[in-house]
Amino acid sequence: MSLSTTARFVEVEDLHKSYLLPESGRINVLNGVSFSLEAGSTLAVTGHSGCGKSTLLALLAGLDSADHGRITINGSVLTDMDARSLHRFRTAHLSIVFQQFHLLPHLTAKENVCLPLELQGRHCPSEVWHTLLGRVGLTARRDHLPGQLSGGECQRVAIARALAVRPLLLLADEPTGNLDLETGREIADLLFELVEQEQMTMIVVTHNEELAARCSRQLRLAHGVLR
Ligand SMILES: Nc1ncnc2c1ncn2[C@@H]1O[C@H](COP(=O)(O)OP(=O)(O)OP(=O)(O)O)[C@@H](O)[C@H]1O
Ligand SMILES: [Mg+2]
Repeated sequence: MSLSTTARFVEVEDLHKSYLLPESGRINVLNGVSFSLEAGSTLAVTGHSGCGKSTLLALLAGLDSADHGRITINGSVLTDMDARSLHRFRTAHLSIVFQQFHLLPHLTAKENVCLPLELQGRHCPSEVWHTLLGRVGLTARRDHLPGQLSGGECQRVAIARALAVRPLLLLADEPTGNLDLETGREIADLLFELVEQEQMTMIVVTHNEELAARCSRQLRLAHGVLR
């Protein structure tokens, strides 16, 4: 897919999301979220615990559906896609990095990195995983399982895995939240370096003010809206 030159690489319009709880009824989490983002820029989304940051990322990633509203990424309207098209778009163009890394525990570093390509039915030749692990400084740990790696090393593997599909949009949910200050800084350095090299657009949810300040824009989610 070619990169759109439009200033609105990501466009979110009037997004609403609620959950039905058995005891307390419906809770409105997103109450009309709208924003747009230029290609190649970075956005930090901050806000109190429980305000809906992960919910917003899940909608942007096509992992959950909105009650109302529209999400357009690089000219493709995610909210109009059927499940099959959405799955295809997501696996080809979007990647997420999570606070808890979400590596598969029974797969080695290189197998975890190859997984997104294999899920698309693509081959993952040694040059590919070797290059990706090299970019995060972990080639020597290629045959190690996540349980044999430190938290920072696991996040590096997760970042290498996120890059495997060469995503247009990288979504990160508290990528430094499980790491000590120094390791968190190293991971943030790595993320920004890779985002710049790959000319990716990144949306990062974070409580870390230092990380938020490094993004080209910062928006706060409160009472279901972003400002
Ligand atoms: N699948 C779900 N079913 C019911 N309620 C949910 C579901 N997912 C999230 N919620 C609720 O929606 C609200 C927003 O949750 P979300 O995980 O998006 O918050 P968050 O801003 O990411 O919080 P944190 O900073 O603690 O990660 C919370 O009240 C949460 O309990
Ligand atoms: Mg969250």
